[in-house]
Parts: sequence; C-alpha cells; structure tokens
Amino acid sequence: MTRLDADTPFVHPDCEIGNATFGRYVEIGKGSRISRVQMGDYSYCDRYADIANAEIGKFANIASFTRIGPTDHPMAQASMHHFLYRSGDYWDGAGADAEFFDRRHARTVYIGHDTWIGHGAVIRPDVTIGHGAVIASGAVVTKDVPPYHIVAGVPATPLRARFPPQIVDRLMALAWWDWPHAVLRERLDDFRSAPIEVFLDKYETAEFPA
Ligand SMILES: CC(C)(COP(=O)(O)OP(=O)(O)OC[C@H]1O[C@@H](n2cnc3c(N)ncnc32)[C@H](O)[C@@H]1OP(=O)(O)O)[C@@H](O)C(=O)NCCC(=O)NCCS
Repeated sequence: MTRLDADTPFVHPDCEIGNATFGRYVEIGKGSRISRVQMGDYSYCDRYADIANAEIGKFANIASFTRIGPTDHPMAQASMHHFLYRSGDYWDGAGADAEFFDRRHARTVYIGHDTWIGHGAVIRPDVTIGHGAVIASGAVVTKDVPPYHIVAGVPATPLRARFPPQIVDRLMALAWWDWPHAVLRERLDDFRSAPIEVFLDKYETAEFPA
C-alpha cells in the first residue's frame, strides 16, 4: 500500500519523466516513461507505462505496460530510421529535425476523467478517450471512444456501454471528479456500495458543506 500525498507525486524508481505536470495524489509506477504529459488529480499509471504527448484527466486508472501516444516514424522518405530526425545523435553539425518533432508533439492523446486503460493497451496519437470509458487489456485504440463505453480488440471496437445514455448524462453533469477531497471521503461508502441511480438521486441536489 502507498500513502499518497496531495502536494508531491509518488514516483516509483527507475522512471524517466520529462515535460510533465502532475495534479494532486498522482502515482507513477516503476520504470514508467512519461514525456510531455499533463496528468490530473488522483490519476496513476502502474509499472512500465509509456505515455507521450497526452492530456489525462482526473482519476485515470492506467494499467502496467500500456503505451499511450506511440510516436510514428516518417514513412514517405527513403528511410524511416532515427538518423533522419535524431541526426545529431549520429553526426557533428547535423541537428535534430525540429519540424518533425513539432508535428509529432502536436498529436495529442486526450484521456478523460475516471477512465480505465487495461493492461498492455495501446492508444494511438490523436485519439480521445471519453470520461468513464474502459479500454480492455491488449486493445489497440485507433478511434475516439465515447464516454462510458467499453472497447476491446485490435483494432478496438465497442463491446458495450457501461450505462444507459440517461445515466451517462447524469454522471457527466454530476462531475463528481470535481468534488473536494474531504467530500469524496465523506461519500466514500456510497461510492463503494450505492446503486448508480440511488447515488445520482442522492447527490445531484446535494450541496458541499461550506
Ligand atoms: C474489458 C473488460 C473490463 C470487460 O470485462 P467484462 O465486461 O467482464 O467482459 P466479459 O469477460 O464478460 O467479456 C465480454 C466479451 O468481451 C470479450 N473480451 C473481454 N476482454 C477482452 C479483451 N481484453 N480483448 C478482447 N476481447 C475481450 C470477451 O471474449 C467477451 O466476448 P463474447 O461476448 O464474444 O464472448 C475486461 O475484459 C478487461 O479487459 N479488463 C482489464 C483488466 C486489466 O487490464 N487489468 C489490469 C489491472 S488494472
């Protein structure tokens, strides 16, 4: 068990992190590589996640060995090799191809709040995963996934919706992911056990304590 901290992300050993911003209670699993990523409050990835060029909401659950935003090599030139764009690694006086990297960095993956990305899943650049969506283990996601839908397979296709549309609308409007930490704790028992309609009925009209 790990006791997480609001102010400092818990980064396990052997991670490579560059150009990342982390929200509160974030955890990064052992050996993960995180590059050009914004990760919202309470989101975490398990071991050896590889995440690049992504904006991740709150409460995202990212399993181990996932690859989010795998970058592409050039395919229309004579070669696809690193030497075309990481040229400075091979020769003095030959710089990196800045325009190539700019195009690569612009291909952002968006991952919504309270999403679950299963073990070993791959999410292609430019894809948006809606709030509450589930990506099955081993899926390769090439297209946007609507909120509260489950997708699986290679390429990923819809398995089913988690809830009927009216429940999805109510969850999206409730936006419980914006509740304060103390309110989440106060309502923890209902998160754990209340049927979804009971939960919505109870909290759609509830006010936060002042
Ligand atoms: C996506 C998932 C949540 C679906 O769970 P479920 O609703 O209980 O699914 P079921 O086992 O009832 O399977 C439903 C169908 O989806 C298929 N399916 C389930 N998981 C699949 C997967 N990973 N890839 C492809 N198809 C899958 C099943 O074969 C079944 O197909 P059928 O209807 O043709 O028989 C679950 O399979 C999964 O991948 N969970 C992720 C687990 C994980 O990665 N954990 C890491 C730690 S967080």
